[in-house]
Amino acid sequence: MQEFLWLLTLSLVALLAVIFVAVIRQAAMPAAAAVPARSGRYRQPLFWGLIIVGVAVTYGTLVPWPYSPDPRTTDTPLRVNAISEQWSWSVDHTELPLNKPIVFFVTSRDVNHGFGLYDSDRRLLTQVQAMPGYVNKVHYTFTKPGQYRVLCLEYCGLIHHDMIAELTVKP
Ligand code: CUA
Repeated sequence: MQEFLWLLTLSLVALLAVIFVAVIRQAAMPAAAAVPARSGRYRQPLFWGLIIVGVAVTYGTLVPWPYSPDPRTTDTPLRVNAISEQWSWSVDHTELPLNKPIVFFVTSRDVNHGFGLYDSDRRLLTQVQAMPGYVNKVHYTFTKPGQYRVLCLEYCGLIHHDMIAELTVKP
């Protein structure tokens, strides 16, 4: 999925570059030659079409938002507290269930840290800020058993790189 999105992004950037070059070349022409009269007709529908597509894509990609309860889950989520401090994590459940919604309640005892949840292939699954004085919630449901890690995603000092917690997901 990440590979696909990366290629898609590259293709869209390339397309944008082609459009930019075309626009720059047109800008050198006299105005009358650059904009044929009939193209003005499409401008308004194209504009509103793009707005509608933009709103739909934004809505569609934000519905599985991990920071508020997912309305599709009926199961009561398991609460897991994750407290950060320079330079460690205290997580009150390190053995976690498979296919059960989990809410991580994340906070910090000192400075800002970042709660980054990674799978065994070092892919980032979800993340949230760990902030002193606030409890931030992030929802996640593990669908594969195995070893997972919480790494700090916010530079927080000398031993930032060693803020690691190990989690095990069992069926
Ligand atoms: Cu904690 Cu970086």
